[in-house]
Amino acid sequence: MESLVMRNLFGGIYNNKKVLVTGHTGFKGSWLSYWLTQMGADVVGYSLEAPTHPNHIGLLNLPITNVIGDIRDQNKLDETFAVHQPDIVFHLAAQPLVRLSYDEPVETFETNVIGTLKVFEACRKTSSVKAIVNITSDKCYDNKEWVWGYRENDPMGGYDPYSASKGCAELVANSYRNSYFNLKEYKKSHTVLLASCRAGNVIGGGDWAQDRLMTDIMLAVSQGRKVSIRNPKATRPWQHVLEPLSGYLMIGQKLLEERTEFADGWNFGPSDEGSVTVEEVVLNIKKHWDTIDYEINRDPNQLHEANLLKLDCSKAHILLKWKDVWDTAETFEKTVLWYKNFYNTQSVDTTADLNQYVSDAQKKNLEWTRL
Ligand SMILES: NC(=O)c1ccc[n+]([C@@H]2O[C@H](COP(=O)([O-])OP(=O)(O)OC[C@H]3O[C@@H](n4cnc5c(N)ncnc54)[C@H](O)[C@@H]3O)[C@@H](O)[C@H]2O)c1
Repeated sequence: MESLVMRNLFGGIYNNKKVLVTGHTGFKGSWLSYWLTQMGADVVGYSLEAPTHPNHIGLLNLPITNVIGDIRDQNKLDETFAVHQPDIVFHLAAQPLVRLSYDEPVETFETNVIGTLKVFEACRKTSSVKAIVNITSDKCYDNKEWVWGYRENDPMGGYDPYSASKGCAELVANSYRNSYFNLKEYKKSHTVLLASCRAGNVIGGGDWAQDRLMTDIMLAVSQGRKVSIRNPKATRPWQHVLEPLSGYLMIGQKLLEERTEFADGWNFGPSDEGSVTVEEVVLNIKKHWDTIDYEINRDPNQLHEANLLKLDCSKAHILLKWKDVWDTAETFEKTVLWYKNFYNTQSVDTTADLNQYVSDAQKKNLEWTRL
């Protein structure tokens, strides 16, 4: 895709902006960093080393500043912010795995809650920062396992340590929005707008994190193994990683444009048909890689994992005019083909996927694609 088209997305706001991304070595952070570089942003990534091998960020080899650091290390964060003077911060670094959080609750809370607090502190000390887009999860809500979607003003909660840590991270964000980045004080005692974004399970090429369904299936099929399914009837919202990223980038745009009404919580999830069971996912993706095979292994001592979790995204649809671009079938197809190409030919289809996504969004005349 022509670089001019990319540079003009989101009102052209990211062209030549200094953007700090925490968690850039991870799945979502690598896609976000790639997209930002395509739009002309000067990206500084701050994270631990890539959590998996292989990893998407290594395969992309992006022209960005790569800082390896821990978000629990306040001095290193402060120094990085002072040196690079970012205009906007996308905070994605986290311990994001539910099952690991049962084994490592202290590290999970320290990273996801105290780490978030320290990132906000670094922002507070750095006058160049005008906008913070904080990334949590749909799991931040008090999950009642009911059929209705959660709204942005529903109570925070979380059963397992990961979900609770994301609920806590939202409370930290709310406290900072009240105490330091208060809208009534905007342009008086501070110049920072802070928003928090909650999305559900995302899929797409380049994710090798443990205990994620799509990753487990892709790894198993590439090795000629059957994949073992723990929870076949669990319903999850499935979205391509580019969908919430377009939402985060829209929010970032609005904050940089000083639109104070967007400094708030936002849900980004698929429409209803995007919520399908784990077993349906497997059957669906077999269409694109027919050697995929699975067995159901219900573990009687299974750790508690949410069965039903849906987001109500009316606020993003109506006020932000955000919409998803790909339906479930396209999402599964793009994801499976990314891995199939990677394992068969060692090629990385990220560029083709992003170009197709932007082109499909243009056809739908979505706001962020308009000149
Ligand atoms: N992938 C999903 O389906 C999903 C769903 C909902 C929310 N999220 C949220 O999106 C964000 C990104 O998730 P992901 O899937 O890309 O995860 P990931 O595991 O692929 O990446 C996590 C990133 O955080 C970094 N990190 C972890 N601990 C750190 C620390 N102490 N200091 C500095 N960096 C650290 C890792 O190095 C990596 O760059 C997370 O906040 C996650 O909770 C992800």
